Amino acid sequence: MRAKIIGTGSYVPEKILTNYDLEKMVDTTDEWIRTRTGMVERRIASKKEAASDLAIIAAKRALKDAGVKAKDIDLILLATATPDMLFPSTACIVQAALGIKGSGAFDISAACTGFIYALSITEQYIKSRKYKTILLITSELLTRYIDWTDRNTCVLFGDGAAAMVIQSTNDRKSGIISTSIHADGSYADSLFVQGGGSRCVVSHESVDKKLHFVKMRGNETFKMAVKAMTASAQEALSYNGLSVNDIDLLIPHQANIRIINAVSKKIGLPSEKVYVNIEKYGNTSAVSIPLALDEAVKGGRVSKGDLVLMVAFGGGLTWGAALIRW
Ligand code: UT7
Repeated sequence: MRAKIIGTGSYVPEKILTNYDLEKMVDTTDEWIRTRTGMVERRIASKKEAASDLAIIAAKRALKDAGVKAKDIDLILLATATPDMLFPSTACIVQAALGIKGSGAFDISAACTGFIYALSITEQYIKSRKYKTILLITSELLTRYIDWTDRNTCVLFGDGAAAMVIQSTNDRKSGIISTSIHADGSYADSLFVQGGGSRCVVSHESVDKKLHFVKMRGNETFKMAVKAMTASAQEALSYNGLSVNDIDLLIPHQANIRIINAVSKKIGLPSEKVYVNIEKYGNTSAVSIPLALDEAVKGGRVSKGDLVLMVAFGGGLTWGAALIRW
């Protein structure tokens, strides 16, 4: 029994914020952002949009692509660091919007590694035969938690959502081959948003101190990302007795083009086999890999039988990988 992705969908908000727009907002340049991150533009959700709004569109597209009706979904998993509200979960809000009742629905919190964590949970539920059809969604609006006067963080993030329908299959030739998830909570203060949590509820003081914004130790996170993503990629290959030459496409978390290039170089994968779309969307956190996968599949970069390796890294710190045969 394997879990197989049978349909994908994604949605990015209409509004585009370019590096040139950012030049007018903070002391930065298109050249700095392009060369230091690989980003050129990113999408910004409208005031009316929250995580569930983006998620619902992506989910409907994935269901249509899979040819599956919402009523046939056994479980909804939604990875996000930017839910509609503290509770109920955004997954429950999406469930209601899809017109389903009774299926399990919950959110997963693993920051930018949220997709890999969600995929790992999905794989276990399907392999154990508990559920047959799972809707996995990621949706992030990190730009809501950005200090637009802080050039260290405000150029990096973008909003979006991506979804997929995953179903059990007896086909041994395709599906999820393996997933792995890791964390090191001693680095929790490398990348975080403090304000709004139970340790620091929203107050005039927390807002004045800008505690509701993303804080990141960029350089430290960069080094950890390269190390952890490289280790995860190598772990996925060795666990399955495969070599880097077997990989048809690597879809890494899109946080920085220099991280992506360093990881590909360390594992010995040529750049033609690495999917990059960071220039269009920036860092969309848990959304980046499934958004890239949807684009890659629809754009013909992934064909039946291809071996696709996905690796992520994010706040927590968390990291992990998933290997799939398309
Ligand atoms: O998705 C989850 C994981 N996230 C990541 O993995 C992100 C990892 N980190 C990074 O991608 C990079 O560390 C950044 C892109 C955030 C920063 O790049 P860096 O090469 O590590 O730069 P830095 O933080 O060491 O800063 C170098 C200089 C500093 O100036 P000084 O102190 O040397 O004068 C910064 O103030 O670059 C400056 N700087 C900027 N300059 C122009 C920082 N941001 C900007 C900016 N425009 N937007």
